[in-house]
Amino acid sequence: MTQKYTITVAGGGSTFTPGIVLMLLKESSRFPIRKIMLYDNDPERQKIIAEACGIYLRENAPEIEFGYTDDPKEAFTGIDFVLAHIRVGKYAMREKDEKIPLKYGVVGQETCGPGGIAYGMRSIGGVLEILNYMEAYSPDAWMLNYSNPAAIVAEATNRLRPDSKILNICDMPIDLEEKMAGIAGLKSRKEMQVGYYGLNHFGWWHQIYDKAGNDLMPVIRAYIAENGFPVSAEQQVDDSWAHTFKMAREVYAIDPETIPNTYLKYYLFPYEIAAGLDPEYTRANEVMDGREKKVFSVCREIIEKGTSSGSNFEADAHATYIVDLARAIAENTQERFLLIVPNEGAIENFERTAMVEIPCIVGKNGYEKICQGKIPRFQKGMMEQQVNVEKLVVDAWIEGSYQKLWQALTLSKTVPSAAAAKVILDEFIQANEDYWPELT
Ligand code: NAD
Ligand code: G6P
Ligand code: MN
Repeated sequence: MTQKYTITVAGGGSTFTPGIVLMLLKESSRFPIRKIMLYDNDPERQKIIAEACGIYLRENAPEIEFGYTDDPKEAFTGIDFVLAHIRVGKYAMREKDEKIPLKYGVVGQETCGPGGIAYGMRSIGGVLEILNYMEAYSPDAWMLNYSNPAAIVAEATNRLRPDSKILNICDMPIDLEEKMAGIAGLKSRKEMQVGYYGLNHFGWWHQIYDKAGNDLMPVIRAYIAENGFPVSAEQQVDDSWAHTFKMAREVYAIDPETIPNTYLKYYLFPYEIAAGLDPEYTRANEVMDGREKKVFSVCREIIEKGTSSGSNFEADAHATYIVDLARAIAENTQERFLLIVPNEGAIENFERTAMVEIPCIVGKNGYEKICQGKIPRFQKGMMEQQVNVEKLVVDAWIEGSYQKLWQALTLSKTVPSAAAAKVILDEFIQANEDYWPELT
């Protein structure tokens, strides 16, 4: 009999949960599921998502056991995988992460610059808590974490739980690789083999081959130089994301040898971007008025009607990478993924203890890193500055150090001066009093 797996989704109330649950169902011939459990520490929020998912599963896959809870023991006992996508402080705090820096003309973003630093100071504790529950109740389980800010979370888990079974991964490279496969005339990113180095939301492709070993970089570079990344007809994105994909053209122009991750725009054009953002209406507002409203209203409708038929519930197509990753571990597929892992020489001329995003081969016993060699001075310079920001944030969290966090903000390429860093920090401290460790 084939083995069936038990999965807990941590952050069950996430706007991404229905898409993930439906995707798990869609992929269940490749990755058989016995039970799906949702866990969240906000039971009211989770209930709406969970009741709707429960109805959908009863109607479409009655053989899969399903439950939801805010009790850690019930959630984490007897499981094989935790898929973690929590947002400590939810959108209310994301809004503050974005709006406080913008008051001072500094970019306000979920994971980049001061906003990412503030979010990191909240997220570290939340992700460690989930990891602790998993290890207490299911010591053999693996955690696939995509809770943000992934760079800071990965630095913290590596520092504080170096032996834990946790893989930190991001979907941005997956989406961009799908776009590049399209540019090169391929059906899927799986037909490409890539070389990539960087930190999370801070990296570059330096090699892209097809399965026959042909170099795809020239055709992809020519396209991006002209257009940035494309948005496919079936991909529905908000204007802010369309702008990001297009702006890859400007980001690319700085180093035409490599292809940049879209998030680099915040570091390379911080003031231009800040000037173009509305300090009264940021991405958090866009998400609350868009994705969150949509997902929760579909769920409420399913609950009221008592059926999911005719509802607007959709699998998240590009979240299939999560099943690929879980399968790689469960079934030793030895597939390649870009993971956020300790460098230890994989990027030869870069700090050994840095958490870097590079290609890895994943199997039953974890990952093996694929060396990326030496990186150019421009990228090395940028990465050195940014990795030290991330390390200082984790230092600040561990030590409760105001000084280290001020240094982290000052060092960020998005912040113009130590004075600006201090004003932003002092406002962040007030806004985050329920979440951050006390800083002295
Ligand atoms: P959301 O606010 O809708 O959902 C997050 C959920 O986490 C909420 O229901 C909240 O109650 C819950 N939560 C918060 N703290 C918790 C804790 N300590 N324990 C258990 N549950 C907790 O947010 P969203 O927009 O759906 O995003 C969820 C997360 O996924 C975010 O961290 C986001 O940045 C991340 N994300 C990452 C990627 C990636 O590729 N790395 C892609 C998409 C989303
Ligand atoms: C990309 C990134 C994620 C980020 C997500 C959602 O997929 O890789 O890290 O959380 O976008 O961003 P949004 O602004 O839509 O909530
Ligand atoms: Mn990401």
